[in-house]
Amino acid sequence: MSKSIEALFRSFSLKDLSLANRIVMAPMTRQFSPGGVPTAEVADYYRRRAEGGTGLIITEGTTINDPVATMSERIPQFHGETALAGWQNVVKAVHGAGGKIMPQLWHVGMARVAAKAPFPELPSVGPSGLVAPGKQIAEPMTAAQIETVISGFASAAADAQRVGFDGIEIHGAHGYLIDQFFWSATNLRTDEWGGTMAKRGHLAVEIIKRIRAATTPDFPIIFRFSQWKQQDYSARLAETPQLLEAFLTPLSEAGVDIFHCSTRRYWESEFADNGLNLAGWTKKITGKPTITVGSVGLNEDFFTAFAGKGSSTRSIDDLIERMDKGEFDLVAVGRALLQDPIWANKIRNSKLEEIEQFSGEALATLS
Ligand SMILES: Cc1cc2nc3c(=O)[nH]c(=O)nc-3n(C[C@H](O)[C@H](O)[C@H](O)COP(=O)(O)O)c2cc1C
Repeated sequence: MSKSIEALFRSFSLKDLSLANRIVMAPMTRQFSPGGVPTAEVADYYRRRAEGGTGLIITEGTTINDPVATMSERIPQFHGETALAGWQNVVKAVHGAGGKIMPQLWHVGMARVAAKAPFPELPSVGPSGLVAPGKQIAEPMTAAQIETVISGFASAAADAQRVGFDGIEIHGAHGYLIDQFFWSATNLRTDEWGGTMAKRGHLAVEIIKRIRAATTPDFPIIFRFSQWKQQDYSARLAETPQLLEAFLTPLSEAGVDIFHCSTRRYWESEFADNGLNLAGWTKKITGKPTITVGSVGLNEDFFTAFAGKGSSTRSIDDLIERMDKGEFDLVAVGRALLQDPIWANKIRNSKLEEIEQFSGEALATLS
């Protein structure tokens, strides 16, 4: 192994989790689970990434037990014995290949288009019923609906531990339900669930606490968040390090073990001050380990992929320099691992010339 990439291939351990290296597969929705049940093909898809040397796999978003948590009947669900048995097969396949895996637990909130989703007669839910800033199409969530969400996350986490997953990731990013609470443009509430940064974070804090109580203390909880929203790519939850601290501290104290800081390009500084990226700032503020993500190994960010575009490859020397300095602990890789299940092993063996550029077609097959 070349000296320069050693930083990526050091082991990592935290609580019950021990990883062979620092490479994490980023969660990527693929809608290959008819009826919400992960199939043998899904197990094979993740097994290939484990065999290819990926240290930790975070699954595609998988929905909690609320009929309005999902957008499609082909998105895997994380409740009900049939779907959970499907997931158990995924865990066995990944563990059999020497890998580790966590489900990304998800509620899409107002991003759900009711007419195209299961239970079309049920309206979608969100803090203030806004599908985008200024666009209210449903009533604000009731206390009972909020409780359904909190208990849905807690029971999903307990089930994840029961079927053998190595931890869970909470999807608190990208403008979905939890992030709709975080963002002042979609959360107009004036009760205990909205208003100040702390109140907008209240739902996430309750979810984390209830997950902590529903699982053993050493079962790792990853929390994924982002500044950007799918409704507004330039939106920011925290414009300053002080606001980021106000946002993160309650989440950290509620029991998050690792923060997964979703950005489009890991090499961009989050604030003008010192060049740290979002994962760097988050680690500095909370003292917790962090995962960085965004265009690892690639030139173009992933929004261009949704427009059907490919991307040429990019050196990861600057990524390794940042890791060596301790800016973040783990590195999530999305499209490069879609394109090539053995990406991690190619990096490890310095077979960079065998890594192909990302083609838009990889997105169509998601295999
Ligand atoms: C096809 C596709 C599906 C995605 N689905 C999810 C998802 O379910 N949950 C999530 O948090 N992020 C999702 N993302 C974002 C990725 O996790 C990742 O943050 C993004 O692709 C940037 O990493 P990359 O530049 O290495 O691809 C998705 C991205 C892609 C390309």
